[in-house]
Amino acid sequence: VRAEPCTFVLFGASGDLARRKLLPALYRLALEGHLPPESAIVGAALPVMSTEQFRASMREALECAPGVGPVDETAWHAFARRLHYLSMDLSSSEDYRRLGHLLERVDREHGTHGNRVFYLSLAPTLHAETVRHLGELGLTHGRGWSRLVVEKPFGTDLETAQSLNRHIHRYLDESRVYRMDHYLGKEMVQNLLVLRFANRIFEPLWDRGHIDHVQITNAETVGVEGRGGYYEKAGVVRDMLQNHLLQVLALVAMEPPSSLSPEAVHDAKMEVMAAARAFSPERIRTECVRGQYGPGLLGGQLVPGYRQEPGVAPDSRTETFAMLTMRFDNPRWAGVPFYVRSGKRLARRLTEVVVQFKEGPLGRGSPNQLHLRIQPDEGIALRFATKAPGRAAHHHEVALDFRYGDTFGTRLAEAYERLLLDCMLGVSTHYVRNDLVERGWELMMPLLEAWGSKRDEVPLHTYAAGTWGPTAASGLVEAQGRRWNGY
Ligand code: BG6
Repeated sequence: VRAEPCTFVLFGASGDLARRKLLPALYRLALEGHLPPESAIVGAALPVMSTEQFRASMREALECAPGVGPVDETAWHAFARRLHYLSMDLSSSEDYRRLGHLLERVDREHGTHGNRVFYLSLAPTLHAETVRHLGELGLTHGRGWSRLVVEKPFGTDLETAQSLNRHIHRYLDESRVYRMDHYLGKEMVQNLLVLRFANRIFEPLWDRGHIDHVQITNAETVGVEGRGGYYEKAGVVRDMLQNHLLQVLALVAMEPPSSLSPEAVHDAKMEVMAAARAFSPERIRTECVRGQYGPGLLGGQLVPGYRQEPGVAPDSRTETFAMLTMRFDNPRWAGVPFYVRSGKRLARRLTEVVVQFKEGPLGRGSPNQLHLRIQPDEGIALRFATKAPGRAAHHHEVALDFRYGDTFGTRLAEAYERLLLDCMLGVSTHYVRNDLVERGWELMMPLLEAWGSKRDEVPLHTYAAGTWGPTAASGLVEAQGRRWNGY
């Protein structure tokens, strides 16, 4: 597929995300022929540099980006001519006027028909003002279509998210707003819709009658990677749970959408999240665990604890690990817990969903598990009991294991590649609608308040880096006669 020509305006072009993910994604899209030759990219950021210097620095970024370098000379030259740069102060109306002039020139020179994507890869405090300036100058209503992409975090709590939604809607209607959650661009996450609804064999079993519980794990080995200042204010609930993991959860738990149109998918996700049970103080005490990493060994190396990271207070109470028991009060899921956990500096990098089925009538233990490996080594495994050869009916657990790498062999596109292309095609299915982003915050607010409170009624467990998080998290699941997959 090929997008229509457009100018991709990247605010925050000198930032880490732009260098590590966004520019490399655009480069790959161009390389694979998804961007028509008329498309252009305008980087906007505070540092003063010329377009030539911007191109050079983007080339450097591409060389380091996983899955891109070494950069092919001919392809780079074709790509570099699309790149433009404007040094601007995001609070200066004058600078937006300069941006407007540059966009007109780029439209003319490249032939983008006035189509524009405005991508905000900025601190959340800058979102509202940037949208206001764009809207007031009429930049969001040009000759062609214009769309707005907002990177996470979308607000920092329910109130700021609601007010940002209201603010954006003054200038753009919802159909033109794309809230980015890059987990929705991951191959296995997108596959959830196909796995569940294009097959006959899973959906009839996908309910409380057959499923004992569901586990969702996001384990990272990295720490806060020099982002201590940001992370201190965020913590794992704001950074990973409110957005990425709730989106995965919604896709696992939702009812079949009436179609695959963006609205139908968003409605189905919203409907199930509306049935998610609120976190009462009691549930926060008994069904959730929080932790913070201390020093420990990872890959044979001693790594510092969170409190020793640059930009982190020596007595910080910010959580780097959380485990939540989510419940849905609806006919499909009554009584089925969804254990969701995410943490930094854990033993291994792994994001997966494990669906644990109930025991069969002659079962010993519950061997049936469906593993959806989101990363790394994307794939799906189905575990079941088989009779071990021989006369005695010994049960033996085996797995049918599908791996993307073995079956398709090719490189899987990065999440940002898919999502940026979707936006240029005008497809918002894998973006987050306004009501769902707000619902995510609404669900997380009681936790954020309890865990942020100075009264410290909920313990903050320390776990050694390189482990699977606080033992309280496995203890909670074990106390219910269950076990986290594998560890
Ligand atoms: C980002 C978080 O949204 O997602 C990071 O801010 C986190 O803290 C990252 O490391 C994880 O993304 P991925 O794609 O590497 O799993």
